[in-house]
Amino acid sequence: MRERLAIIGAGHVGLVYAACLAELGHDVSVYDIDPERVASLRRGAVPFFEEGLADLVKKNLKAKRLTFSTEPGAALKGATMAFICVPTPSATDGGLDEAPMRRALQTIRQHARGGRPIVVTKSTVSVGMNRYIKELFRDRKVPVVSNPEFLREGSAIHDFFHPHRIVLGSDDKAAMAAVAKLYETIDGPVFTTDPITAELSKLAANAFLALKVSFANSIARVASSSGGDVAATLKILGTDPRIGPGHLRAGLGFGGACLPKDLAAMEHLARRSATPYELFSAVAAVNQDQRQHVMDILQGKLVSLSGRRIAVLGLAFKADTDDVRESPSLALIAELLAAGANVVAHDPVVKLRALGKDAPAAVQRRSALEAANAADAVVIATEWTEYGRLDLPRLRKRMKGDLLVDARGMLDPIVSRKAGFDYVGIGS
Ligand code: UGA
Repeated sequence: MRERLAIIGAGHVGLVYAACLAELGHDVSVYDIDPERVASLRRGAVPFFEEGLADLVKKNLKAKRLTFSTEPGAALKGATMAFICVPTPSATDGGLDEAPMRRALQTIRQHARGGRPIVVTKSTVSVGMNRYIKELFRDRKVPVVSNPEFLREGSAIHDFFHPHRIVLGSDDKAAMAAVAKLYETIDGPVFTTDPITAELSKLAANAFLALKVSFANSIARVASSSGGDVAATLKILGTDPRIGPGHLRAGLGFGGACLPKDLAAMEHLARRSATPYELFSAVAAVNQDQRQHVMDILQGKLVSLSGRRIAVLGLAFKADTDDVRESPSLALIAELLAAGANVVAHDPVVKLRALGKDAPAAVQRRSALEAANAADAVVIATEWTEYGRLDLPRLRKRMKGDLLVDARGMLDPIVSRKAGFDYVGIGS
């Protein structure tokens, strides 16, 4: 059945859900507080890079299944469900800052009538949020369903249509069935459960992915200092189906808007429930240390970083996105600058000048080769495919020094050394 749906928040999650739900044939109306964002979305311009999203937005705008508004009343009018897709960044105590969530809830409350719309939480929330919302809407008799998202940036559209699981948590079975119906044409296991379990399943998934990355980084450090082949060790480890190969790439550590904050939220929740939290703090500490490890390699090889020219390849927190939130690369650049180095950066998609006041005091060049001009060292900080295909002899010729720190395990150590590099790899 064709539903009239409202999406609150036109960010990475909201826009992907809006475009994909419209693609499934529903009438989707998106509300966002940012007038510039809404104006450009109405023209079909997506404000960030996500494979396939701009085409899907344009197609569904044209088909009039997708509309954008800064007027909550317009977006919520007649909506049977309202999906909350606002950011929930880290709060100072490690929990989630739910101020945007609470504002979204007040907005929906003002337009809720006769038990509608069903409030659906997509944003990652603190455990207990569903029950809080239920109380907040008790007088409006509005049901609440937790439906956490598991989309990865860079492959979000694919993940929507081919999910590993669809999780729905609610005290209201009919509301849960109504939300499940939206996904009936999508092939993926559906889990219906209580709200707390649904909320926890999201935090636990991201905390576990973070743990796998930190585990891979710890094993990589042990393997390389004991003379083992890091990549082979991790590959062999991942062949065990009880472990699995995903998120076992060693590197500069995990970043992004989700893993670091959800890991912190998991630790916060464990502390609050007086249960063991040390595992989560250890995962975060290993992640932090991974950047320090790259700094130690550079300092060890170059002795002093002051006045040194370091080319940093990659700014995004991972490949195939222009997102720099909690980017390990930007954290490394900040440390290099603090140590007195001159940083020349490259990224195929991210533009430093677009970061405004948050941009580090680094220079950006249009190609990796240009960034390496006269550099004392090159660091591969993001796993963009093009860095795995670098013309190594040409890169070496451009540089003043010969140090190549492959912090994402992209290159073959033997080939790199043959090209004249003092090669240090993490994960390779
Ligand atoms: C993550 C989860 O993977 C999604 O399932 C979830 O829906 C999403 O958060 C969210 O909560 O919204 P995402 O933030 O897009 O997705 O990033 P990941 O692909 O998980 O990568 C996170 C970080 O780990 C990146 O910095 C990446 O470079 C790093 N990573 C990943 C590694 O260092 N090694 C790996 O093997 C994998």
